[in-house]
Amino acid sequence: MLLVPLSLFLSLLLPSVSFAAKDQKRGISFPANDNAADIQNLNQSKSAVTWQYDWGIYNPFLAESGIEYVPMQWGAGGIENLSNAMASQKAKYLLAFNEPDFDEQSNIDANLAAQLWMQYIEPLKSTGIKLGGPAVSSSGTGMPWLQSFFSACSNCTIDFIPIHWYGEGVEGFYDYMWSIHTEFGNRTIWVTEYADTSLNATDVETFLNQTTAYMDTLDWVERYAWFGYFRPENGSAYNFLDADGGLNSLGRSYIGADTVVRSGPATNTAGAPIGGPTVNLATVSVDPGHAPTLLPNGAETLKMSGQIWAILILCIVDVLLFWVFLIVLLKPLTSTSNKSTPCDAHQRQLCPLSESRKSGDTERLPTRQVHHYRIQSLSWTTTRVTATNDSGFIAHFEDSHTEESLTLLRNAASTSQEILTMGNGDFLLPTFCDLHLHAPQFLYQGNGLHLPLMQWLDEYAFKAEEKMDADPVLARKVYTRLAERLIQAGTGSVLLFGTLKEETNLILAEVLQKSGIRGFVGKLSMDMSSRPSYVESSTSASLKNVRSFVDKVKKSVSHLEPHRRLVEPVLTPRFVPTCTDELLSGLGQLGKEQSLMIQSHLAEAHDQVEWVRKERGEEDIKVFGKHDLLTPRTIQAHCTFLDIPSLSHLHHYGTSVAHCPLSNAYFSTEPFRLREALDQGVKIGLGTDIAGGYSIDIMNAMRQSVIISRIRDGQRKDRDDPGSRCLTIDWKESLYLATRGGAIALGLHSHAGAFKVGVPFDAQHIRLYDSDNENGIGPLDFLDNDYGAGIAENMVEKWWCIGDDQNRMGMWVQGTKLHSISQ
Ligand code: GUN
Ligand code: FE
Repeated sequence: MLLVPLSLFLSLLLPSVSFAAKDQKRGISFPANDNAADIQNLNQSKSAVTWQYDWGIYNPFLAESGIEYVPMQWGAGGIENLSNAMASQKAKYLLAFNEPDFDEQSNIDANLAAQLWMQYIEPLKSTGIKLGGPAVSSSGTGMPWLQSFFSACSNCTIDFIPIHWYGEGVEGFYDYMWSIHTEFGNRTIWVTEYADTSLNATDVETFLNQTTAYMDTLDWVERYAWFGYFRPENGSAYNFLDADGGLNSLGRSYIGADTVVRSGPATNTAGAPIGGPTVNLATVSVDPGHAPTLLPNGAETLKMSGQIWAILILCIVDVLLFWVFLIVLLKPLTSTSNKSTPCDAHQRQLCPLSESRKSGDTERLPTRQVHHYRIQSLSWTTTRVTATNDSGFIAHFEDSHTEESLTLLRNAASTSQEILTMGNGDFLLPTFCDLHLHAPQFLYQGNGLHLPLMQWLDEYAFKAEEKMDADPVLARKVYTRLAERLIQAGTGSVLLFGTLKEETNLILAEVLQKSGIRGFVGKLSMDMSSRPSYVESSTSASLKNVRSFVDKVKKSVSHLEPHRRLVEPVLTPRFVPTCTDELLSGLGQLGKEQSLMIQSHLAEAHDQVEWVRKERGEEDIKVFGKHDLLTPRTIQAHCTFLDIPSLSHLHHYGTSVAHCPLSNAYFSTEPFRLREALDQGVKIGLGTDIAGGYSIDIMNAMRQSVIISRIRDGQRKDRDDPGSRCLTIDWKESLYLATRGGAIALGLHSHAGAFKVGVPFDAQHIRLYDSDNENGIGPLDFLDNDYGAGIAENMVEKWWCIGDDQNRMGMWVQGTKLHSISQ
């Protein structure tokens, strides 16, 4: 009898590919909102990678792979939820505080970090979790920060020290690793971000191979994670993916396996090239030790020091994104209303960081170069010069006194470049995002709102939609006027519900693309209806129809460069009462397959909630959840009936809410728990819900969101309890929701809603007063203001309260100035 050794037998059976051994140290980080399909190359069984993180606290849907997910408490925001999050995931390791020494990252004072550690992180030790210390940057500020932290936190248990390093050549990297290791008691180290930032691909690959081999031999380096797992950006050589999502040579070396999918054009602009002519690359100075960034050093940094400011920055960071540009773009704001009510103070201490922070992508454009653009348009104030390139991205955003700004202005004056000179009473604001609007119902805007929701749908909404589906000429007329009204109202991005019929929805997409607004267009999916004439013929027909619509919209813009594709199809199960489980499940699958955005109505009105309970025997959030329709790409309108655990559920899924305060007042009977949802870290923007709401102007939605929050706060029974939570939001927070909040929910460019180099120029030009005669514009009067001081905060506040279209001098999307189509 012939004895064949078992190993030989096995090797004969296995296909002849080489398997990378799993490397217990090797990990990867990736932005949670990156192209979903790209992540498959990482998560394939042959990958050597054994762990991953995304700067967030919750395992994102992308990481359902069995590769260990390590949560991170990025900054101070939401830290009160940390213990629950760790327990619910049974996580074994925690990473804490991302580059706290860096004002563009978590920016926490070392003493405060020590306090937070003792209060929230140290108790996790007793549950067996291994605690990673703050990951400082390798710039000059990192080591001193860590030393201060260690002295302030002498009772903290720091099991290992995560480090970051960016630079060129192995020597500097090895020196840095050893110096941290020896400086802090020979503790073990995790290298949670590192890269060779050379532009020479061979140098980078040599660096990668040498350093991984070396770290594999060091017993005190427990883990490492290269930065990063993304597509090429402006000539960088340290990315792992090709432009089509396949692994490049560097990626293959590290992942230890070949490409399994090429996911094609990026579905998420966050990692997409910033466009524009690629000639004449000019290097922007890279702060040594930080992830390379598109920003010139300090270009938009709002420096504040001291512990109180550190808390404020963490708490109001996203509102600050708005203020950052106001403060730097305009003449400095002279605040005339510094009074802060106890409610304000309380709120700011507790307000959450946004989801985008958690995904780690916001401040992280892993790019070391900026195109030297041919400047297409230029705007300037006495303090800032903003320039956009041919492709509509911001190419320059700097103080007007810098050499480059002065050169731009000089050159522009001698050529035919478009220059917008901003007067003293002017400012630029990101465009508004409307996260919920029924395009066909624009026909009946302002009619029939006396009925309860289910009856109103039957008697007005379905009828309006059916009428549009029957008359393409009317549809074009209504949609064209709708687009004009949106431009007038400063809405640059809109998420739309359409109708059932493909042709009508394609008209809507065409009109929006032509109008220049970013349009997310949903063909309704309904295989059940209270109106027999307004329903799809079967579940399978409904699924076939939606696939066809998605393909056609994609095809309609496929000839355009990616940044010129303004319309995108969105899966739109109308709401649970009009969709069978089979349809919802098919839509969930399609969404996953093609990484499509999804929208619907969730927990909106008393009669609707009751209907779902009675007919489906469960809450609609459960129904959506079980059919994979709650995803980071989903935006659910209303959610007024969701309690706090359900809101936390939404956060967990990464699903956003379109808050529509006016329509809620008419139909919902319950107001949305806005403050609580923010506290839970839910991504939120505003919607008009035309025609459940009658105003197309997001400025009204902002005002209404504040009003409703104040009424809720007025009614709260625990008002006199000093420890109780204030439920109001203020006007600045509502402005954040209307701009950046909406942009995050829509998954626009990772910095959309703020002004930074490399970000699409989506802006509105607001004029408060005429700088020649100092008269207020439109409804605004400033009778005792000191005009010489520029724009004071109370002037912007007045505009927020009573300003209107007359204050809007212009609007741009992707650098293109928009005019109504009929002009
Ligand atoms: N729920 C289902 N359809 C609709 C609609 O058209 N408007 C509103 N407000 N709620 C809905
Ligand atoms: Fe609606």
